[in-house]
Amino acid sequence: MNKKTISDIDVSGKKVLVRVDFNVPLSSKDPNATITVTDDTRIEAALPTLNHLLEREAALILCSHLGRPKSAADRQYAMDPVARRLGEILGRLVTKLDEVVGQSVTTAVQAMKPGDMIVLENTRFHPGETKNDPELSRQLSALADVYVNDAFGSAHRAHATTEGVARAIQAKGGPAVAGFLMEKELAALSVAVDAPPHPYVAIMGGAKISDKIQLIEHLAQVADKILIGGGMANTFLKAKGHEVGQSLVEEEALPEARRLLDTAGDKLVLPVDVVVAASTDDASPCQNVPVGQIPAGEKALDIGLVTIQHFHNALQGARLVVWNGPMGVFEVTRFASGTNALAMLLAGLADQGTQVIVGGGDSAAAVAQAGLAGRMTHVSTGGGATLEFLEGQTLPGIAVLDDK
Ligand code: 3PG
Repeated sequence: MNKKTISDIDVSGKKVLVRVDFNVPLSSKDPNATITVTDDTRIEAALPTLNHLLEREAALILCSHLGRPKSAADRQYAMDPVARRLGEILGRLVTKLDEVVGQSVTTAVQAMKPGDMIVLENTRFHPGETKNDPELSRQLSALADVYVNDAFGSAHRAHATTEGVARAIQAKGGPAVAGFLMEKELAALSVAVDAPPHPYVAIMGGAKISDKIQLIEHLAQVADKILIGGGMANTFLKAKGHEVGQSLVEEEALPEARRLLDTAGDKLVLPVDVVVAASTDDASPCQNVPVGQIPAGEKALDIGLVTIQHFHNALQGARLVVWNGPMGVFEVTRFASGTNALAMLLAGLADQGTQVIVGGGDSAAAVAQAGLAGRMTHVSTGGGATLEFLEGQTLPGIAVLDDK
């Protein structure tokens, strides 16, 4: 990586503004409920950076967005549960402030001593965050000597806390560098972008093809095969002329799917059978059928047994596998078999030396649910950021950081 990291600079005793991606799942959307963090993967992933800084007696001002609040009135997205969880994990006092910038923040930061930790309020409670407002960036930069971006998951956003503040710190002569999670993500994902080893097999799933058209187009240039499962496979199947019953189909994406079949059809491996049911309810019976025989009143909810075998065959000998998106409705046990079988298959390949990269979001949740995350080469903490990085795009939150 050609960007400076916290290893390259002196942080001892400094005030450090750390942008983390603590956009974590919460137990409730009810502002009056006691809200807790239900998955702290992203908090754990930031610990190497936080510990490095704390060991050097830096004072840490942490900031993150949480969810997509419309304004500060959306109290269910306040950072309190996240700050509480971080304090529990670190076993030390973490002070949560109720503003992003303002008098209370300035006063609290002025009083900070080495090793103190503050969590600012949800950055998206401030209207300047998503507008990348230079005045918000300037106010944030005034709080700290150093800016560290460890929020890989937000690096595709050019927002005040991911991009603008880095420029503002640089403008006053301070360093703007990457944290260890950012460094680790870039090192792992760059393998698939810079010089991917071949055979390179990509596996794409999830509900929507429209989110991933650009990535599939890019993969068609660089990968040897692209296995398609999940809801997005239905759109391809319909584009090929199959009747898909009540299956989720993105009608507006059909022309794109047809175009991809025309231009990259030789690389695409589509399901040949699927698990169908009228609904995901327990009462609704399910069956495994060939893709040409989906009953009119039913929908595809998982890939079928023959497809799993086809995917198994297509993956043999791969030196690099990138997986993004589940193969079915994996949150429901009856429709998790395809996703779990794939996770098992990939864990086995990784054990034999294949580089297996799991690209964030639902696929990361699926491998964690299957207890297999530790066997993959890399499980990304990013969602949209991972997709854009794998497409070969420049992410603004990374581009702005100091070069080595
Ligand atoms: C994510 O969860 O992908 C990141 O935190 C970015 O969130 P956003 O899509 O709301 O910007």
